[in-house]
Amino acid sequence: MKSLQDLPGVGPATAEKLVASGYKSLESIAVATPGELSAATGLSERAAQKIIIAARKALDIGFKTADIIYEQRLKVSRITTGSRNLDKLLGGGVETQTITEVFGEFGSGKTQLAHQLAVNVQLPVEAGGLNGKTLYIDCEGTFRPERIVAMANAVGLDTKETLKNIIFARAYNSDHQMLIAEQAKEIIEEEGIKLVIVDSVTGHFRAEYPGRENLAERQQKLNRHLHTLARLADVFNIAVFITNQVMARPDTFFGDPTTAVGGHVLFHVPGARIYLRKSKGNRRIARLVDSPYLPEAEAMFIITEEGIRDPEES
Ligand code: GTP
Ligand code: MG
Repeated sequence: MKSLQDLPGVGPATAEKLVASGYKSLESIAVATPGELSAATGLSERAAQKIIIAARKALDIGFKTADIIYEQRLKVSRITTGSRNLDKLLGGGVETQTITEVFGEFGSGKTQLAHQLAVNVQLPVEAGGLNGKTLYIDCEGTFRPERIVAMANAVGLDTKETLKNIIFARAYNSDHQMLIAEQAKEIIEEEGIKLVIVDSVTGHFRAEYPGRENLAERQQKLNRHLHTLARLADVFNIAVFITNQVMARPDTFFGDPTTAVGGHVLFHVPGARIYLRKSKGNRRIARLVDSPYLPEAEAMFIITEEGIRDPEES
């Protein structure tokens, strides 16, 4: 593995600056933007850009042949959702190296699913986890540790440990939210994070950029944020799970549910999209929407005291 000092243009002084600003590895530099790196280190944007390009080169991020992509794909691992139905819909669970977006109306189970994944990622691989920690970015103030305790108990994890393995950040506005994501690389590496959650990814942006006249700016910022998240997923081989509240269309009750008002946000970013809708009682229906390689299909799950489960179990 190459070190920072092997990068062309990086002498001991620059290397020290980088490390002091939290850029301790080639990976962390490779995923930075010139603006970020320059602001953090005091280097000029030009110098920062050179270093980023060098880091990407050293890590071989750039042109690749298909066999390399294939090899990378083989490293994709999956986190169980707690429901076999839902796992099957997703091709085995929530994948690393990509963003999974869950969208649906209030009470459809987005936050509960986020809690469940924050617990399940900690399970050993044989049990459907990744033996890793979670970075939970809460934008709405709806994180509930007592739900984590109940879910951890239900899968036989030590509750105290499980809570400790969830690194929590409350994002108070969209800029703060973006900053947390941009600075996450360090904590991801140091803590062994395998899952990053952003609940909800869109709330702040909608509130701060209301109306048609702000749509372009909102989408531009949101896209930048999504690309930051996508890079984290890719470079660190972790799962990124984001939620997005949309309204069900009252006039298309029997029609295509994916035409929910607001729609999904992952237009230009690859990833899995799941549309959630409420069914009877604690039942929820998940629909996989335009996946690059899985068939469009639906699955039913339930939300119980113990977490996300299959309907038959209750
Ligand atoms: P918004 O954030 O408002 O858009 O909704 P959401 O999609 O995040 O909904 P959330 O995940 O918060 O789901 C809420 C639903 O989960 C509730 O309507 C309850 O039915 C269920 N739920 C939440 N907590 C519990 C619990 O402790 N026990 C049980 N059995 N169900 C719960
Ligand atoms: Mg929620």
